[in-house]
Parts: sequence; structure tokens; C-alpha cells
Amino acid sequence: MNITDSRALVTGGASGMGRAFTLSLARDGATVAFCDLNDAAIAETLAAAEGLAGKVYGFKANVAVESEVVELIAKARDAMGGLNVLVNNAGIFRDGLLVRKDKTSGEIKSMSLAQWQQVIDVDLTGPFLCTREFAAHCLATDTRPGVVVAISSVSRHGNAGQGNYSAAKAGLIADTKLWALELARAGLRFGAIAPGFIDTPILQGMRPDVLAGVLKTVPLGRAGAPEEIYLALKFIIECDYFTGRCIDVDGGLVI
Ligand SMILES: NC(=O)c1ccc[n+]([C@@H]2O[C@H](COP(=O)([O-])OP(=O)(O)OC[C@H]3O[C@@H](n4cnc5c(N)ncnc54)[C@H](O)[C@@H]3O)[C@@H](O)[C@H]2O)c1
Repeated sequence: MNITDSRALVTGGASGMGRAFTLSLARDGATVAFCDLNDAAIAETLAAAEGLAGKVYGFKANVAVESEVVELIAKARDAMGGLNVLVNNAGIFRDGLLVRKDKTSGEIKSMSLAQWQQVIDVDLTGPFLCTREFAAHCLATDTRPGVVVAISSVSRHGNAGQGNYSAAKAGLIADTKLWALELARAGLRFGAIAPGFIDTPILQGMRPDVLAGVLKTVPLGRAGAPEEIYLALKFIIECDYFTGRCIDVDGGLVI
């Protein structure tokens, strides 16, 4: 699919990578809708998109709430006069070990069910709801080709302290494969991207010494830029022979 033919919905589009995807797609001539949780951040991203080649629309929606996702897909489709690309980018983390013994008190501490469920709701159920409604729209309107891209993570391989996040991000890859099989005949393609450490507010919030230590583990020796992840997104949209796979863009972190 040509980028200029794309009418793309980006979830979590008002910060970090989602913002970069929204602006880069529009810069390359796509029509873009994005959703996020915060009105001020949505307005700020819309202002940044002014004057770009493609038109950009912003909506407030929580991807973990079924009714809001149903409404979002309809609004995005109506605003853009169609919808043929979905980028499941919105994500959160609530890190913690499964169980641990506190060094001083000896107390056993564990990951709460709420900590588990919040991450599963946003990072796995959100993409399920968005993809289901996107695919239903494509089938109902005979929209083809259509492309769905999931933003997974290098944590999909398993990362200590991220049982909830790793499960969600690995689940996205499983669904990318099986939905590619289920919906190839309907003209829909599915791809995933597993970024390593990328320079977004998440990383910018880390203590500088901790961040420096973390980046020492990256063979390429630095964090990635959101625009470098956009290159993988652009490839998945444009390459009509790509489906059911994940591209790891992690500076060689997991080889
Ligand atoms: N930054 C990294 O190093 C990194 C690495 C690997 C994967 N990722 C993944 O990339 C994606 C983007 O991460 P980022 O670093 O740009 O994060 P970010 O926090 O800068 O942006 C995420 C955006 O998603 C929005 N969001 C959160 N919950 C939402 C919900 N329920 N509904 C709608 N929007 C919601 C947030 O408000 C925020 O604007 C996430 O899925 C994250 O897990 C990030």
C-alpha cells in the first residue's frame, strides 16, 4: 500500500512513538487519525501536525474500553472518509517481580492482580478490541488492502520484572500471526515491531546513571529514535508481501 493511500489510525498518538508515527505518516502524505487519553496532549499534537502534507484528526478514547473503541473506529472512518491502516501503539507498564522477599522486613511482596490486569487491559485487550473493530469495518465495507501493525517490545522475549508487560507484548506477536492467517483472504495484512530502548518520555524519565547503565547493554550503544521505528512501520505498510511477522528494532539487544 502506498503511504499516500493510507488512512491510518494510531492509538496513543499524543506522545512518544505514537506521536512520531502520526506526524511522520502525515509528513509522508497519509491521512491520519490518532487517539489518546489527554485533551491537552491531543491538542498539542494536532498543532504540531498543522501544515503537514496529510490531514490529521485527534480523538479522545481509551483503547481498553469496548464502547470507546467502537465509537473511535466509526469517528476515525467518518473523519478520514475511510480507514485502511491501524497502528496498535498505546501501551503502559507497571513493573514488578512475581514474588520477592523484602530484604529488611522479610515480608513476601508480589505483583498485585490490579498491576497485572491494568497492563493486560491496555497492552493486549486494547489491541484486540481495536483490531476486531478495524477488521469488522474492513469486511463490512470491502476495504482491501488493510494493514494492522502492533507495537510489541523486546520484552516479548521475557524480561525480569515485567511478567504482565512481557505476556502482553508476546501475546501481540501470537495474535499478529494468527490474525494474518485468519484474514489474509480478506485482504488484510498484519505485522508487529518489537522496539528496544527508544528515546521517548519513558526513557527520558529514567535517572541518568541508570539510563547510562541500561544503554551499555545495547550493542549499538545508544537508544533508538522514534523515527527509526517509523522506518519499520513504513516498510510494513508499503510491502504488500509482508504479513504475520515481527521486526525487532533494538540496536542488537536480543540477537
Ligand atoms: N519507549 C520504549 O523504549 C519502548 C520500547 C518498546 C516498546 N515500547 C512500546 O511502544 C509503545 C509506545 O511507547 P512510548 O514509549 O511512546 O510511550 P508513551 O508513554 O510516550 O506514549 C504512550 C501513549 O499511549 C497513551 N495511552 C496509554 N494508555 C492508553 C489507553 N488506555 N488508551 C489510549 N491511549 C493510551 C498515553 O497517554 C501516551 O500518550 C507502547 O506500546 C510501549 O509499550 C516502548
